[in-house]
Amino acid sequence: MIKAYREKKISCSPEAVKPLPKTYAKRGAKTLQLMTPFFEKMGVHSDQFINEGSCHFYGAPVAIILCQDDAFPKARFVDIGLTLGYFILTAYDFGLGTCPIGLITAYEDEIKDLLNIPENKNVVIGVALGYPDSESPINRFKSSRDDLSRFVRWIG
Ligand SMILES: Cc1cc2nc3c(=O)[nH]c(=O)nc-3n(C[C@H](O)[C@H](O)[C@H](O)COP(=O)(O)O)c2cc1C
Repeated sequence: MIKAYREKKISCSPEAVKPLPKTYAKRGAKTLQLMTPFFEKMGVHSDQFINEGSCHFYGAPVAIILCQDDAFPKARFVDIGLTLGYFILTAYDFGLGTCPIGLITAYEDEIKDLLNIPENKNVVIGVALGYPDSESPINRFKSSRDDLSRFVRWIG
C-alpha cells in the first residue's frame, strides 16, 4: 500500500476528492495546526505521518477491511457505518484502540488484488486495531468539538 501511495500520491485530506465548504476546510486546517507540535515532537512531517501511516494502518497488529457487495444501494453504506461504530466502542471497552482508515479506498484495486477480494465487493473502509501506545505524543492530542448548534438545525 505504501508503494501504491508513493506512486499515486492520493492523500487523506477529504479535499483530495473535491474542495470542502469553507467552514469544514477551516476546521480541518485549524486541527492540523493544533496537531503540528505533536508531529514536531516526533520529528515527522504531518503529511508523511498521516498518509503513509494510514497506508500501513499505523503499524497496528490487526488491519480490518470492511467490504460490501455492490448489489446494495449506496444507502446501505450506513450498515457499514453502524458496524464500524459499534466495533470501535466494543474495542474501546476491551482497552483496544482503533483508527478508521478511509484512505485505503483510494487503493482499492491494489487491496483487492493482494487479498483476492471478489470484483463485486466494494472496499468501504479499513480499521487499524491494537493497544494504544500511550507513549506516542500524537496519542495525547485531543481534537476539539464544535457546538451542536453549528451543524444541527432543530425544527419545531
Ligand atoms: C470514515 C472515516 C475515515 C477515516 N479515515 C482516516 C484515514 O484514512 N486516515 C487516518 O489517519 N484517520 C482516518 N480517520 C480517523 C480520523 O482522522 C480521526 O482520527 C477519528 O475520526 C477520531 O476523530 P477525533 O480525533 O475528532 O475524535 C477516519 C475516520 C472516519 C470516521
